[in-house]
Amino acid sequence: MNIVEIIERKKRGVSLDEREIAFAVAGFTDGSVADYQMSALLMAIWCRGMQPDETAALTGAMLRSGEELDLCGLPAPTADKHSTGGIGDKVSLLLAPLAAACGLCVPMLSGRGLGHTGGTLDKLEAIPGYDIRLDNAAFLRVVAETGCAIVGQGPRIAPADGRIYALRDVTGTVDCVPLITASIMSKKLAAGPRTIVIDLKVGSGAFMTDRAAAEELAASLLRIGAAWGRRMAVVFSDMSQPLGVAVGHAGETIEAFDALRPDGRGRAPADLVALTEDLVAQMLLTSGLAAGRDAALAAVRRAWDGGEAFAAMLRWVAAQGGRLAPERPDFGLALAPRLAPVEAARDGWIGEVACRDFGHALAEIGGARRRVEDSLDLEAGIDVLVRRGERVARGQPLAWIRARDAAAAGRAAQRVRDALAIEEAPTAAPPLILGRREDAGPVAPAS
Ligand code: URA
Repeated sequence: MNIVEIIERKKRGVSLDEREIAFAVAGFTDGSVADYQMSALLMAIWCRGMQPDETAALTGAMLRSGEELDLCGLPAPTADKHSTGGIGDKVSLLLAPLAAACGLCVPMLSGRGLGHTGGTLDKLEAIPGYDIRLDNAAFLRVVAETGCAIVGQGPRIAPADGRIYALRDVTGTVDCVPLITASIMSKKLAAGPRTIVIDLKVGSGAFMTDRAAAEELAASLLRIGAAWGRRMAVVFSDMSQPLGVAVGHAGETIEAFDALRPDGRGRAPADLVALTEDLVAQMLLTSGLAAGRDAALAAVRRAWDGGEAFAAMLRWVAAQGGRLAPERPDFGLALAPRLAPVEAARDGWIGEVACRDFGHALAEIGGARRRVEDSLDLEAGIDVLVRRGERVARGQPLAWIRARDAAAAGRAAQRVRDALAIEEAPTAAPPLILGRREDAGPVAPAS
């Protein structure tokens, strides 16, 4: 078999068979297929798409590039959540200990920032000492002891995804249904949870900017989950503006952990609380641990307000080597100073938000990658103080840029200012939870 012929065939829109897909993925993993050849194949897939059986073959090949964890020894039903990526999305940091406190085991594999979106691993690295590279045995031990653990996928779990993910990030091939499906599902299947809930983001800050594209991705994810015998649900959530206040790694980690305090539910940003509650409740429902949505939500709120979730978070982070100072408002994490305000240029109402531009603004101050090898400034960030539909007055701070460098902060401030439209009249923001789906539905006919 020849990789150039495989690229040529996909370029012409021919469906690849399982052997060709396995050859390309195995070759890229062992180095016999070069980065530039995989880049060309990814772009051909981006342009030509894949049929459902090709997507399944790609997922299987990426899954088989590494080991599959055996979760049989864990003491409770296993479940995980995966977000398709957004701005300010720190939900995993609250959700994993909350779900653990509600009786689930959550073995979570997370990724780094992709495209304009942030990654949970980068947020966790803002915690001094936190080890994202546990080996499989240590990972399972932490889950068994504390109810959850969050690690990077490492060289042994779906390693093909790790390498393809990094390549997609710098070749303009992120926003592609079969590639997103295979990426998410290969690592989630390798980690082994019986229940997988997908937070499928829709809007200007998401890879799926409209509902039709999001529905297509949901169907593709659900088909793969069903083929591998997993219980799955997709929650569609709004990403037409950043989630919560903090955008940037240390700031998001502090916001998430502070929200999880027993009195945090009433104080934390309402969108962050509502989405986290909804997703954990969905995990309980889909796992069969709750009889209905009301009962599931009540269980989540009890674990949150009663402090069990906060205690689970402290146990989990300590078990992965993280050193937190929970008595301090910032948990002992370092944050860059607020250097530049973004002020309203006139009176009016916050209208459309070019949410993706917050990711680009974060890159200006070193908080997001432009190239795979870029290191991040985990202390840099943006505090977003307004929401869509809110009334603002001229000169009012809409956001603050946290950075070390005044010139970069100024550039980021300009991007954020441009991203926040101020309108003459109020317009309603979309609801936070846009819908949900558990069934892949009929397969669309081949085009
Ligand atoms: N999350 C992933 O893990 N992969 C993608 O391709 C997109 C979001």
